[in-house]
Amino acid sequence: MTYSGVIHRYGQLLDLPTYSQPVTLLEGDTPLVPLPRLCKELGGGFELYAKYEGLNPSGSFKDRGMTAAISEALGRGVKSVICASTGNTAASAAAYAGRAGLRAIVLIPEGKVAAGKLAGAVAYGAQVVQIQGSFDDALSLVVRITEKHSIALVNSLNPYRLEGQKTAAFEICDTLDGAPDWLCLPVGNAGNITSYWMGFRQYQAQRSTGLPKILGVQAEGAAPLVLGHAVDKPETVATAIRIGRPARGEQALQAAEESGGRMMAVTDAQILAMQRRLAGEGIWVEPASAAGLAGLAVEIQAGRIDPKGKRIVAVCTGHGLKDPDIIVRNMPTPRVLPVDLGALEQAILS
Ligand code: F0G
Repeated sequence: MTYSGVIHRYGQLLDLPTYSQPVTLLEGDTPLVPLPRLCKELGGGFELYAKYEGLNPSGSFKDRGMTAAISEALGRGVKSVICASTGNTAASAAAYAGRAGLRAIVLIPEGKVAAGKLAGAVAYGAQVVQIQGSFDDALSLVVRITEKHSIALVNSLNPYRLEGQKTAAFEICDTLDGAPDWLCLPVGNAGNITSYWMGFRQYQAQRSTGLPKILGVQAEGAAPLVLGHAVDKPETVATAIRIGRPARGEQALQAAEESGGRMMAVTDAQILAMQRRLAGEGIWVEPASAAGLAGLAVEIQAGRIDPKGKRIVAVCTGHGLKDPDIIVRNMPTPRVLPVDLGALEQAILS
């Protein structure tokens, strides 16, 4: 069997301590799925791809950074890891800690975590603690507790998370044989955008693959990087990015600016419309994961991005199964029929 996962595949390019002990669930190697119909709707004449990160082992992009952070923590000899999370980091930390035989503690904002994420964290065996506050409050608590106790912090403040996460940029360049012209992605705590920019720059320095412009997209009710100040009570249907004080906000702004791209915000309605639009083309993502494409669509339609002749990649960060409620809540109850051919014919053919 070929052993893989992002540390095995890209280890020499990652700045991890030699004492690290690889813990992997064979994450990464996610597909770059073409979106020809959406591309046509946006005017056509360019290439559009979704980097479908929801296909990672725990259902989100977090697994790339988590394999690195947990490998370092295990090698260092710590016994417990902790994170604050809007849900995906929690599930990923729980999965990789379980794999490594470490204890995982995850802090989540009370009542604001999608069902599939909470269930994942519990299923993988984490101790889940709900905080009567926001993600930002939970993050400040885990920072303080890890300063006092020997528990490894596995939020993206942990530099090894970024090392693992940047492999997504390597994969995109490897698949396209060079960097795309634009990369668009949702931005919450800003670890992902920071990692992509690190990865693209490293490949450019070592392999001359070129650099994309980066479009970072926040939700309008949780857009500190667009507003230029912290948001005390962030609100959005995209709970994954319901964050008012991004830990790596400065680096995110720098990535957008250095790349020649920008930060922008989209409404919840635009996010949900793009979620439905993508699902209609066979790619079901959670709401936050549609934000990048929602932002791209706004920019193209407003004439602020001219896509003609370009290659554009949108990062779809988490699987739709993470947040089934958002769909179920808004759908009519499916019709119930007796076991009867005539009734079925009438229901579907008339
Ligand atoms: N998309 C999804 C599905 C996420 O879960 C997150 C972040 C983001 C986008 C934004 O990425 O924070 O690196 O800017 N989720 C974190 C969590 C905060 O706790 O799972 P970011």
